[in-house]
Amino acid sequence: MKGLTQWYFVLCLLLLSFNCHVDCSLSSFSSNSASLEVVLMSNNNFVGEIPSSICNLMSISVLDLSNNELSGAIPDCLGSRGKMPNLSVLDLHMNKFHGNIPDSFVVGNTLEILNLNNNDFDGPVPKSLVNCNDLEVLNLGNNKINDTFPHWLGTLPQLQVLVLRFNYFHGRISPSENESHFSALRILDLSHNEFSGLLPTTYLKSFSGMMNLSNVQRTSMDILNPSYHFSVLVTMKGRDRVLERIQTLFTTIDMSSNKFHGKIPEIVGNLISLQVLNFSHNSLTGHIPSSMGKLTALESLDLSTNKLVGEIPMQLNGLEFLEVLNLSQNQLVGLIPLGNQFNTFLNDSYGGNLGLCGFPVSKRCGKDEEQEPPESAFHEEGIYSCPLDWKFVMMGYGCGLVLGLSTGYIMLTIGKPEWLVRMVQRLGYKILRRLKSYH
Ligand SMILES: *[C@@H]1O[C@H](CO)[C@@H](O)[C@H](O)[C@H]1NC(C)=O
Ligand SMILES: *[C@@H]1O[C@H](CO)[C@@H](O)[C@H](O)[C@H]1NC(C)=O
Ligand SMILES: *[C@@H]1O[C@H](CO)[C@@H](O)[C@H](O)[C@H]1NC(C)=O
Ligand SMILES: *[C@@H]1O[C@H](CO)[C@@H](O)[C@H](O)[C@H]1NC(C)=O
Ligand SMILES: *[C@@H]1O[C@H](CO)[C@@H](O)[C@H](O)[C@H]1NC(C)=O
Ligand SMILES: *[C@@H]1O[C@H](CO)[C@@H](O)[C@H](O)[C@H]1NC(C)=O
Ligand SMILES: *[C@@H]1O[C@H](CO)[C@@H](O)[C@H](O)[C@H]1NC(C)=O
Repeated sequence: MKGLTQWYFVLCLLLLSFNCHVDCSLSSFSSNSASLEVVLMSNNNFVGEIPSSICNLMSISVLDLSNNELSGAIPDCLGSRGKMPNLSVLDLHMNKFHGNIPDSFVVGNTLEILNLNNNDFDGPVPKSLVNCNDLEVLNLGNNKINDTFPHWLGTLPQLQVLVLRFNYFHGRISPSENESHFSALRILDLSHNEFSGLLPTTYLKSFSGMMNLSNVQRTSMDILNPSYHFSVLVTMKGRDRVLERIQTLFTTIDMSSNKFHGKIPEIVGNLISLQVLNFSHNSLTGHIPSSMGKLTALESLDLSTNKLVGEIPMQLNGLEFLEVLNLSQNQLVGLIPLGNQFNTFLNDSYGGNLGLCGFPVSKRCGKDEEQEPPESAFHEEGIYSCPLDWKFVMMGYGCGLVLGLSTGYIMLTIGKPEWLVRMVQRLGYKILRRLKSYH
């Protein structure tokens, strides 16, 4: 039976992937492996280039070579119709690939997740990505891409995660009013680039994926841990639920550490499902908009190291889930709001604003500013009273990819062996979907 040869091949690959702690290279993919659909070989010490024989893997749908020591350029066949018509996940993060990202994504391709985070790619964002109509996750973070903002990706109807952090992106982000604007986006990370100009109001108006409260997924503090590892791992217990949970991934905008200037637009208050907002380390001026009080799902707000002036809007004290607030290194003045979550912030949330007064900073407010906190301000509801009844927990959010593909697992098209499935403790939802479709 054909199956037997394939099983033999799986076993070899499994042994390889578990024992390969010395340097290995991906020698070649023979015709034997032509019907491989899912190749998971992350977390090994593979070195060298991806062999061009990978282009023989016509039926491949998931290719995960992440976290190895692979280098060189990536073969053009990845992404071309005719070569790999069914490729939906390409995960090469944490390797040493360099050169241009291939510009070979043709109309009708089925790519859903492209993770190239943490490599040495330079050159521009390939224009042909506009053909990836199914693309949900694009992670180009931690590379050396020197380009302007890829506004033309705004037409991609499924794009939920766009990560460009730690590159050399530059220039203004000023789309024209009649363009399509990332209507499905949930996670936007532009941090640590050289973007300049005003904050992109046109986009903030059109991120409808961030305006839907039914998208809100409560997170635990661990996920907001600032030691960003740039990956969202999913630990799942009931694997049937993974898909829906991932789809309600939380909602974040990180535009920190750029050169944005001008005011924070009022319109930001429309992004009501936003859970993390970071505009820190820019040159923003003007007041903190009181409309931010409408961001009732917000868990983390960082506006530090800007040039914001005026008072902290009292409306912010309605943000019941706010766990992290950083307004330090601005020119804010007046009374710090009291009550609710504001009782939990320490003075390091306000450092460097010499004009702020009241708890928790040491400066007392003058008569004019003094104000009794409203009684209702002290009720103790908030994130801590939230029932944590989830069936599984998302771990290790970072700015990067979205798949928790753990160590090297390999699966083939030949069904779904239970023992193998049991070994797979942490799977990305795409993989899961594949497995399901094998029933
Ligand atoms: C791609 O997937 C379709 C539907 O699942 C299948 O019919 C087709 O044979 C696959 N193509 C290749 C080259 O495996
Ligand atoms: C980006 O490219 C421009 C020219 O296209 C060049 O002037 C600039 O120095 C480059 N930036 C970096 C950081 O490489
Ligand atoms: C937007 O409008 C300009 C002219 O106002 C036009 O040149 C351009 O093609 C339009 N773009 C789209 C995507 O419709
Ligand atoms: C909000 O999201 C839910 C589920 O994700 C969807 O059914 C609903 O249509 C969305 N509402 C709007 C206004 O987009
Ligand atoms: C906001 O971004 C900066 C880097 O630009 C980072 O250092 C900081 O921890 C972030 N703030 C929060 C609350 O995550
Ligand atoms: C707030 O941000 C500043 C730098 O912008 C940092 O030094 C400080 O530790 C941060 N405070 C908190 C509470 O995160
Ligand atoms: C912040 O609080 C610490 C002790 O909690 C205190 O030593 C420090 O002086 C305070 N700093 C300011 C600016 O109020």
